Amino acid sequence: MSEQHQKHRLYGRAAGKPLSKRQQALIDVVLPAIGIPATEPGALSPASLFAGKREVWLEIGFGGGEHLAGQAARNGEVGFIGAEPFVDGVAKLLTALEEQALSNVSVRRGDARDLVAQFADQSIDRAFILFPDPWPKSRHRKRRLVQADFIVELARVLKPGAPFRFATDWADYANRALADVVRSGLFEWTAGRADDWRTAPADHVTTRYQEKRLGDCAPVFLDFVRV
Ligand SMILES: C[S@@+](CC[C@H](N)C(=O)[O-])C[C@H]1O[C@@H](n2cnc3c(N)ncnc32)[C@H](O)[C@@H]1O
Repeated sequence: MSEQHQKHRLYGRAAGKPLSKRQQALIDVVLPAIGIPATEPGALSPASLFAGKREVWLEIGFGGGEHLAGQAARNGEVGFIGAEPFVDGVAKLLTALEEQALSNVSVRRGDARDLVAQFADQSIDRAFILFPDPWPKSRHRKRRLVQADFIVELARVLKPGAPFRFATDWADYANRALADVVRSGLFEWTAGRADDWRTAPADHVTTRYQEKRLGDCAPVFLDFVRV
């Protein structure tokens, strides 16, 4: 984590129980091969990480990588970038990529805010933030990822017309994220009726955290478009 972000402690652990031998080998050998190098701010063209892909999609906080691997399998013509600080989650994703022989994914083990800062303006075609750490206590709310400053930064790197999906099962997070994103004037909310946000979109891949049902409401899916 950069100094800039050290004050925003990450929720949960960056390392958990020891990795299996296979997982450790994936972290030691595969992660360096598909990892994303550090660059000056704004200097990284995400498309340069992938040869011959028509778009680049970004998932922030991919957890165990179910959604990222699932989308990568369904969309072979797209290059995927995932950011996740938790090594167990990265190892799970790498296992899925190996088992499914997926070669269209690049990974940053670390804070997505540092990675997004590297991207050039208008360089990402689609973004997902699914069930981010909820920080339900009001005194911790400022630690949430999706809030005014990050919304502006995410908007900077998305191309005009790029979809952005936010999902949560915490009502206060859903309400505040919706208000903050709409208030930014940088995105339009695409929902036309209640089923558009309370039913999982047809192209959604269920995540592990979603299945745990730890929140205080049913999952909410907010689909936006960068204006
Ligand atoms: C509640 S979990 C959800 C994981 C996954 N999206 C899912 O739905 O199963 C939130 C994830 O976001 C990750 N995370 C927290 N802060 C982050 C940050 N600044 N950058 C990238 N990932 C982050 C955590 O490590 C954790 O894996």
